[in-house]
Amino acid sequence: MATAQSTRAGSMLQQQRAAAVAPGCAALRAAPRASAATVEPTATPAAAPVARRAATRVAAAATTDAPPVAGTAHSNGGGTRVMIIGGDGYCGWATALHLSARGYNVCIVDNLARRNYDLQLGLDTLTPIASAHERVRTWGEVSGQHIDLQIGDICDWEFLSQAFQSFKPDAVVHFGEQRSAPYSMIDRQHAVYTQTNNVMGTINVLYAIKEFNPDCHMVKLGTMGEYGTPNIDIEEGYITIEHNGRKDTLPYPKQGGSFYHLSKVHDSHNMHFAARAWKIAITDLNQGVVYGVRTEETVAHKALINRYDYDGIFGTALNRFVVQAAVGHPLTVYGKGGQTRGFLDIRDTVRCIQIAIDNPANKGEMRVFNQFTEQFSVNDLARIVTAEGNRLGLNVETISILNPRVEAEEHYYNAKCTKLRDLGLEPHILGEAIVDSLLEFVIEYKDRVNMELIKPAVDWRKSPTSVATMSAAVAKQ
Ligand SMILES: NC(=O)c1ccc[n+]([C@@H]2O[C@H](COP(=O)([O-])OP(=O)(O)OC[C@H]3O[C@@H](n4cnc5c(N)ncnc54)[C@H](O)[C@@H]3O)[C@@H](O)[C@H]2O)c1
Repeated sequence: MATAQSTRAGSMLQQQRAAAVAPGCAALRAAPRASAATVEPTATPAAAPVARRAATRVAAAATTDAPPVAGTAHSNGGGTRVMIIGGDGYCGWATALHLSARGYNVCIVDNLARRNYDLQLGLDTLTPIASAHERVRTWGEVSGQHIDLQIGDICDWEFLSQAFQSFKPDAVVHFGEQRSAPYSMIDRQHAVYTQTNNVMGTINVLYAIKEFNPDCHMVKLGTMGEYGTPNIDIEEGYITIEHNGRKDTLPYPKQGGSFYHLSKVHDSHNMHFAARAWKIAITDLNQGVVYGVRTEETVAHKALINRYDYDGIFGTALNRFVVQAAVGHPLTVYGKGGQTRGFLDIRDTVRCIQIAIDNPANKGEMRVFNQFTEQFSVNDLARIVTAEGNRLGLNVETISILNPRVEAEEHYYNAKCTKLRDLGLEPHILGEAIVDSLLEFVIEYKDRVNMELIKPAVDWRKSPTSVATMSAAVAKQ
């Protein structure tokens, strides 16, 4: 229950946040990227032991692909109560529908901050998305399934504690953070906002679990970007080290490449501590870059369509290249283009979350899964999109532009990603068919593309203390 003290703390927190929240009109400065390089083979089997509990059951659940709409929900979820924080966002919305269609009892918690960033920065999703309320209403009509919608900020303790006590989740999936590295590097204000929002929100979720639902499993979205690009293989969360004749298994070293990535690193440390101190069960999902837009459920009605970001701040690599190809803009590769990362299809994101929920971590354990399915360099992606675009009759070119980020442009990269597969994930592999269908999808909406937004807009080296403006940044390009 809320005490006078917690109420005071809540209002102090709100005052602190008021200073950091909603950085108004943002500033952006952009700089360019470039082309060509090769990639390490797709991630290799990991040596790390894998919890095989319920693997058979999950494999069945995770590969259930039958259309879920029209009131014929799958029953795997068995009414498990899942709170999806950030459920109005790109990954969260697709996940909410995926789980609801499969018999989980879903509650979306979201403060609509993502929609507000678009308003502040003059950005827009390629796809015309319905309001959060309209989405949930339509899903109810199409599927016969109810999704609870609670609009509020998880940094507001009073709101979060009430949401927890009223919904009583068995599992919380926490997507609800500011998730763009460029956004966090716009200027000091956006850096502070990103870390305040992300780190404080996650601490509040940990306290809510401890206080109201100690058996609730926390499934938290981190990012592969937490690891950086070390010159050794990347393990799934932990590494066994021998030092001066002694041996220990420790959290894998983290080297986040932006204030956003570092907010996730801080989250991981905070969760690791809370798991030990309060015996909370936590799964930290270090997710790769997500691509694609359609899932079984989001295609069921136009009001269920997911957001598709292609701008220089929120757009992710493959999704951006596809839009550039569709509108005749050269693919903009940053620097040498050898930057290699893990990627996954959004249809695999939703299945990974389901697998994590169905196979909870043990109490007191912070388990880490690397959630991606394939590795690509930026140049690989440019080559794939060029080949498929040209096959569709588009004349696709690639240019190299000055890298606005501070990152290695040629490096070793071999990250493990076997734990989710061991639990039943059957990945969608990026091939011609997927790129083609993405290109065709984007071409359908290409009249909505604002060419100004395609350019990169934030320079890591400049990130000023003064507040800049979006229009100033775009004009520099
Ligand atoms: N999209 C990717 O490629 C990718 C890759 C790796 C990791 N991730 C992680 O996955 C998660 C979801 O990513 P996404 O692409 O869906 O992002 P998104 O911005 O589309 O969705 C995040 C949602 O969280 C909400 N939110 C933010 N702060 C909140 C707060 N304080 N209280 C309540 N709601 C809040 C936003 O309004 C938004 O709807 C993020 O944590 C992100 O870091 C995403």
